[in-house]
Order: sequence, then structure tokens, then C-alpha cells
Amino acid sequence: MITPSKEKKIIILAIESSCDDTSAAVSADDTILSNVIANQSVHEQYGGVVPELASREHMRNIVPTVQVALAKAKIEKTDIDAIAFTQAPGLIGSLLVGAQFAKSMALALDKPLIAVHHMQAHVLANLIDPIRRPAFPFLCLTVSGGHTQIVLAKSPLDLTVLGETIDDAAGEAFDKAAKMLGLPYPGGPMVDKYAAAGNPSAFKFAEPQVADLNFSFSGLKTSVLYFLQKQPEGFIKENLPDLCASVQDTIIRILIKKLHKAVKQTGVKQVCIAGGVSANSGLREALNVAGKKHGWKTYIPPFEFCTDNAGMIAITAYYKYLASQFATLEICPSSRAEW
Ligand code: KG4
Ligand code: ZN
Repeated sequence: MITPSKEKKIIILAIESSCDDTSAAVSADDTILSNVIANQSVHEQYGGVVPELASREHMRNIVPTVQVALAKAKIEKTDIDAIAFTQAPGLIGSLLVGAQFAKSMALALDKPLIAVHHMQAHVLANLIDPIRRPAFPFLCLTVSGGHTQIVLAKSPLDLTVLGETIDDAAGEAFDKAAKMLGLPYPGGPMVDKYAAAGNPSAFKFAEPQVADLNFSFSGLKTSVLYFLQKQPEGFIKENLPDLCASVQDTIIRILIKKLHKAVKQTGVKQVCIAGGVSANSGLREALNVAGKKHGWKTYIPPFEFCTDNAGMIAITAYYKYLASQFATLEICPSSRAEW
């Protein structure tokens, strides 16, 4: 175990390239000095991420993104103590770009390499805000485009998945419903926007009955589809805010119910959310309401650390550095989600 020093902070350069955003961040101990994200607009015209195009965009973006992150943090390459990267899960072509870049840089600078799991990093994004950090143990509902999990965090590196989706992720449910409503990809933020002006009780959609702390969202998708098929022409256009608010409300109810069950089961009342869907204003509000009602202490990462970002990779890497959990230069990325 490495003990943090007061004189010399540990400087980490972190790379995140698991899907369609190229991101680089620089941290000094557990403080994020810069977090730069290059979004890829090329996918909008296809209604979803095209893996081949994502890899090419990462190749194009990675060097300037890292340069901007270092410049913003006012850090020279020679100041870096370790290079971190997202090792899994994600699109393999995208992960390969970040992994190879990180390895090359670690080799060139003769610095250690740290491999980070993307879903663990989403959870630890809750430790970024110095003013509002949960103490351990805490529960985290991680809701992203590819995953939906309830995680029990006993310490930064002791995380256990208590439940997860058995089919679609919450973000996927948002994106698929948005697509049916004729909204562009990624649909989650669009549903959020229209829902603000809609009535969440206007329409009723199926809520699944799934055992334990697991989730299912595929039934909701079918329920929205069958409902829309029965409606007359022009219905979506006339009812878009109500439809968005009703879909959003159903997803949030499913999530909060399971979170409630997890608190009851574990007795842990420090509750966090993380991942792209934690940027949803309805979910943020619902978590605060549930917190007040049930006496939970609730935490949400700052907005820029909810969707994919390298800041969360940097903070996770800091704890791995302290625990001397370094990777070898032979390490390969993996698309698989196992921890
Ligand atoms: O964590 P993330 O950036 O990437 C993955 O690891 O998947 O999550 C992306 C997901 C997408 O499904 C996107 O639609 C959803 O997060 N999302 C939202 C909002 N912002 C992003 N969903 C609902 N409301 C939002 N405001
Ligand atoms: Zn993510």
C-alpha cells in the first residue's frame, strides 16, 4: 500500500475510449485537474454508434484530446506518475485505441500502467466532488447505455454487484423509446428535455416483475411499441411531452423501487447514482425525493462526470495506484463486462 504524501501529489493521465467519446483527464491525488471530452457527432446520422467509425474517430481525436487535457491541467508529460486507461467493457475497436495509446505512453515515459474497469469507474465518479463525497459503505445505482447495476461499495476497490439488468439497460430503454418517438440518437437527453413539459401520468406502460435486485427493460420497450401501433396518425407529434414524461416516469419508478429494496436488504442508507442516465433530471429529482422520504443520504456525481469521461478513470486509477495494482504491458482490453 502506498501512503499519499503531502509534498508530492500522484499525477495520473487517464484515457477513456470505451464507446463513442474520446476523453482524457489529469488528476493530482484525488483531485481532477482537467477532464476533456471529444464527442463523436458522426454517429447521429446512423441512429446509433457505428463501431468501425467510433474506432477511427478515437484514432483522430486521442492525441489532441490528451494534449488539451495536459495543457488545461498545466502538467508536463515528465510530471506524470502513471497512465490509466479503460480496459473493459466496451466496443473492442474503441478500447484498443485507448489501451494501445496508454501502453505506448507508459513505455515511452517509463511509468506504470493502470487498467480500469469502466463500471467500477462510474461508481467511483461519486468520489470526485470534494464537497459531497459518500462515506463507505454506500450503494450505487449505475445506469448507462450498456448497463444497469446496483453495486455495494465497501471501499474504493471493494465493489460487489448486487443486481443488474437481465436484458436491456436503462439507457437503452430511453434510447429505444426515443427512436420509436422519432427522436434522434442518443434519445435519453431528448426524452428528458420533452418530459419536462409533459404529464408523467398521461399514459401507463408495463412495469416488469423481476426477482431480487435485478432489472428488466425489454417489456417496457414492447409495451411502448404496441401502444404506439394502436394510435392514429399525428398522435406522437401531438402528445410528445406526455409520452416522454410517461416513459421516463416508468423507467424511474422501476429504478427507484429496486434501490429501495437494496437499502432495505443491506441497511446501507448512503445512496449514489452514476452513469449516463444519472444525468436525467427526473431521476436526479426522484432520488432526492426518495432520500428525504426514507432518510437516505443521496449523492449524484457532478454533471460532467455522469456520462462517459476520463475523470472517473483517473480517480479509480488513483486508488489502484495506492494499492499498487499496476498492469503489465501485455494487458489486452476486453469487451466483456465481468469484474
Ligand atoms: O454512461 P454513458 O455515457 O455511456 C455508457 O457507458 O453507456 O451512458 C449513455 C446513456 C445513453 O443511453 C444516453 O441516452 C443516456 O445515457 N443519457 C440519458 C441522459 N443523458 C444521457 N438518459 C436519460 N436522460 C438524460 N439526460
Ligand atoms: Zn459509461
